[in-house]
Amino acid sequence: MAKLLIVDDERNIRRSLERFFQSLSHTVVTAEGGPQAAELIATQPFDLILTDYKMAEVNGLELIVEARRRQPSCLVILMTAYATVENAVAAMKAGAYDYVTKPFSLDQIQHVVERALEFKGLQAENQALRETIGDAPMLESKSPAMKHLFELAHQAAQSDATILLTGESGTGKNVLSRQIHRWSRRAAGPFVVVNCTTLSEELLESELFGHLRGSFTGAIKDKPGRLEAADKGTVFLDEIADLTPRLQAKFLRFVQEQSFERVGSDAVIRVDARIIAASNRDLEAEVAQRHFREDLFHRLNVITLRVPALRERREDVLALAGWMLRAAAIRNGRPAMQLSADAAAAIGKYRWPGNARELRNALERAAVLSRSDIIGRDDLPDAMFRESAESTADAHHAASLEDMEREHIRRVLSETATLDEAAATLGINVTTLWRKRKRYGIE
Ligand SMILES: Nc1ncnc2c1ncn2[C@@H]1O[C@H](COP(=O)(O)OP(=O)(O)OP(=O)(O)O)[C@@H](O)[C@H]1O
Ligand SMILES: [Mg+2]
Repeated sequence: MAKLLIVDDERNIRRSLERFFQSLSHTVVTAEGGPQAAELIATQPFDLILTDYKMAEVNGLELIVEARRRQPSCLVILMTAYATVENAVAAMKAGAYDYVTKPFSLDQIQHVVERALEFKGLQAENQALRETIGDAPMLESKSPAMKHLFELAHQAAQSDATILLTGESGTGKNVLSRQIHRWSRRAAGPFVVVNCTTLSEELLESELFGHLRGSFTGAIKDKPGRLEAADKGTVFLDEIADLTPRLQAKFLRFVQEQSFERVGSDAVIRVDARIIAASNRDLEAEVAQRHFREDLFHRLNVITLRVPALRERREDVLALAGWMLRAAAIRNGRPAMQLSADAAAAIGKYRWPGNARELRNALERAAVLSRSDIIGRDDLPDAMFRESAESTADAHHAASLEDMEREHIRRVLSETATLDEAAATLGINVTTLWRKRKRYGIE
């Protein structure tokens, strides 16, 4: 129930509104004019203020301004007998939530007040959600595999041991690495992410280790690297399989000795950083093919945590979808949205080859495009419905996974206009798409 302040210089109106809203179980305080109302606003919190427009001393507009300043979350409804457009516009500009014109029926005012309180409830809920969501992911899980993973991760977080995260693209390795940092003793320290894919070898080297001025063209001043920035915290090396052999060697030394030199310098720098590395490729296979140093692999492979694919934890798909949809609605300034039964069934059935990222993209898209607050099947990407028919047809060919991936990427690329769109459809990031395109030689 809400706490209302009713401000009107007419005693009868005060009385009847007070009785009426009390009968609806609200708490009601009344004031007969501006000064008294201002004093009340200064001393107690209200959910809603109903104020007359024309009063002696302080008028309704001034009161709105005062209320907005003192109690920003309190909504104000203006009651005006001078129902001119100007009054209403001025009131809205001053921050009123709504207005009613006198004379009004109790039904009318009840309707306006209820709508305002509903809005206020939603606002509070959104605020609470925003606080809990922020960028924090949903880490509850009903899946035994996931629960086990979180337990291990939590335990591992307590030590300084190096952690290797594996798992398909989009399963949540970045998300988990951040959570491990939060769980660790280093939580108050920095969390630094270095993506090993995006940069050229030279740039990545200076990004990681820093450089001295003049050590290469473009090095116009001394620059500390990301490893130094991670001192007393955690450094997350994403897509570690993409480190070049030379950088693997240099990084190996850091893993062993916690020390390195900036590019172009002899001074040894010591850094106390916990290392988490991630790869969506099979590092053992990379070792076998001599793409990845075996000694570095063993150094990183102290505690290995494999994040399961979304299809291996079907019990989470709908809860995750609901959570992601709420977050997407908030991000896009839309009211609470829901999945229709059809959409939920489709989401539950689909294989989600792009894992949580693909799911998130699908829901973000739906939250933006859907005309109604209920997400229907039509709001979901076509690819979700195409797949089942094709994958059964393709099953006969026993194509290798790589062939299928290559074909799938080729097809999506031919059907989409931009790389970003293709990446979103595939549920991978643009960099990953770029790399896969290169690997498969797709133009
Ligand atoms: N448990 C979760 N709750 C909410 N969102 C999640 C969860 N796990 C992953 N996501 C979302 O899915 C997307 C992909 O997650 P993330 O970047 O961590 O995957 P990844 O395993 O690192 O992928 P890649 O191998 O391609 O780098 C992100 O947008 C993330 O917010
Ligand atoms: Mg990642």
